[in-house]
Amino acid sequence: MNKRVDPNLSADDWDEQNFPRPDVHDFDHVVERAVSRRGFLGGVLAFGSGAAVMGTGLLKGTTAIAQQPTRFAFDQLPPQTDGTVHVPDGYSWNTLVRWGDPLFSDAPEFDPANAIGLEGSDRVFGENTDGMELFSMGDTELLVVNSEYTNRATNLPWTEDGTPGGADDVRILQNYQGVSVMEVTEGETGWEVVVDSPYNRRIHHNTEIMIDGPAAGHDLLKTEADPTGTLALGTHNNCGSGRTPWGTYLTCEENFNGYFGNTTGSHDALSEVHQAGFKRYGVGTDGWGYDYHKWDARYDVSQNPNEPHRHGYIVEIDPWNPEAAPVKHTALGRFKHENAAYALTPEGQVVVYMGDDERGEYMYKWVSRDVYVPGGDTSTLLSEGQLFAAKFNDDMTGTWIALTPEDTGMTAEEIAVFTRIAATEVSATTMDRPEWIAVNPTAVEAYCCLTNNSRRGALNDDGTVRTNAAGEPMVANAPNPRDVNRYGQIVRWRPHNDDHGAATFDWDLYVMVGNPTVHADAYAGTANMNAGNLFNSPDGMVIDSTGLIWIQTDGNDDNEGDFAGNGNNQMLAGDPVTGEIRRFMTGPNGCEVTGLCWSADRRTMFVGIQHPGAPFPDGEGSLPRSAIVTVKRDDGALVG
Ligand code: FEO
Ligand code: CA
Ligand code: CA
Repeated sequence: MNKRVDPNLSADDWDEQNFPRPDVHDFDHVVERAVSRRGFLGGVLAFGSGAAVMGTGLLKGTTAIAQQPTRFAFDQLPPQTDGTVHVPDGYSWNTLVRWGDPLFSDAPEFDPANAIGLEGSDRVFGENTDGMELFSMGDTELLVVNSEYTNRATNLPWTEDGTPGGADDVRILQNYQGVSVMEVTEGETGWEVVVDSPYNRRIHHNTEIMIDGPAAGHDLLKTEADPTGTLALGTHNNCGSGRTPWGTYLTCEENFNGYFGNTTGSHDALSEVHQAGFKRYGVGTDGWGYDYHKWDARYDVSQNPNEPHRHGYIVEIDPWNPEAAPVKHTALGRFKHENAAYALTPEGQVVVYMGDDERGEYMYKWVSRDVYVPGGDTSTLLSEGQLFAAKFNDDMTGTWIALTPEDTGMTAEEIAVFTRIAATEVSATTMDRPEWIAVNPTAVEAYCCLTNNSRRGALNDDGTVRTNAAGEPMVANAPNPRDVNRYGQIVRWRPHNDDHGAATFDWDLYVMVGNPTVHADAYAGTANMNAGNLFNSPDGMVIDSTGLIWIQTDGNDDNEGDFAGNGNNQMLAGDPVTGEIRRFMTGPNGCEVTGLCWSADRRTMFVGIQHPGAPFPDGEGSLPRSAIVTVKRDDGALVG
């Protein structure tokens, strides 16, 4: 059956529509249950109650310096509701690049009425900017940026509603997504893209990408076009980013499931393994409205049932070598990857923290078998190692549970391809949509944004609690303590023995986001939420070299009801020691603020503005275009 697909549906809502579970009926009852869980909630809320110090008494070493004066070099920006970007007094912003701007001089001019067309659509900056990282060598600076998805109606203006009418239309959409590598430079008039730089490169849905790690060459990954199971085409739904200590870029494939469909309208003819995998990962028959499957057989699972198994990975790109094929690292697992945050163990093993962004999915950690030696061979460092899933205990400790054949009953190859199923086998903790994870470079600790989970604790018609895609009830648990969680929280953990490779950790909530101007209960949030810094749905997160936590939001910007006083989506800075959080920047209405990095001299901050709802950045009468902006201090000092 082919349902009409709303082109504005988010990936989460699309999943919800395709894999429906009954609706909530008794909201009041659900809230009552959450709030009445006194003994349980009390332990978590105690972090923030009565003091502006988060984590007091739970993670040692935070109280003594909690009385220090603020370390923010800016006054809090009030919330905004208009169609442009705002930064605090003493700072200025500029547009660096918009979707459709040329990376090469032979690219076509961007025409809002007719979009770009097929010719040259892979020669421009991609759409819907997301994670990004800056790499520098000598005087050369390269910005590598994800383009997560594309607005079909805008890019195919000759169609009725953005539904592709042929293979060329599909190819245009495929070309706008993926990753852009571009040289950037700061001149007299500000930062600009170096058009025609030999480093400029577009990686999109048809770029050749190597597959390595345990699943490479396995039957589950073989297709007619690639009987070796080692060479995929394309990287999909590139969400958050990461980097390695050896200077490569990591792009993270998130809602890859949405690109696939089944032209027979049903998966019934497929094997049990395929059907079970598609159910767990949300591969439906409709294809999220992209309709790739109708025009490009690779995306039709009735013809190529293994193709979805080749996507959903962490992909490594060498920004300095435009000829080098990117590599999909199956060792790091297959799920809806948000970002990838690295740390090193005291011995030099590489640790990569990763979240799986879907309601009730898990957090993961991967530890390399071999150690990183600066200047040494790094080509197989992300190929061999151990994957773990996080289990959080109510006593504020936690364990990384190894996903091994012994404990999961699955082979190493199956664990790499059906990682979610493996993590369910070991009873990992269901989380409220893990988005970005950030490692603090100034302390042995890490943070994860749990953006929201409106279905946590919600009830089905028969009174049972709603489940995640594995059928596990999403009851409230210690790090996800609120039912009907519309605001989100940030969980923090400190590995035991100051070793990111350790199997155990202590944890607390850095912030439980809420609105104390509207609620007096758990939905007011922790004490570091106040009338001045209201926000919701933390998503992007980067901790700078001084230890400041930069939090970006992708939430409700209606500015009313539960979200009164929040204004548009925004970026805030958090002090990891005092818990203080202060608004730094606001985006145009309708947008998500996502993606953050700095110039090599740290005097410029690059910030991504995704899917603005206003005519941004070119103002009244122009087409809204995702863009990267630069932010500088007017006195030229370091930013952050
Ligand atoms: Fe692409 Fe979960 O954000
Ligand atoms: Ca995100
Ligand atoms: Ca989000």
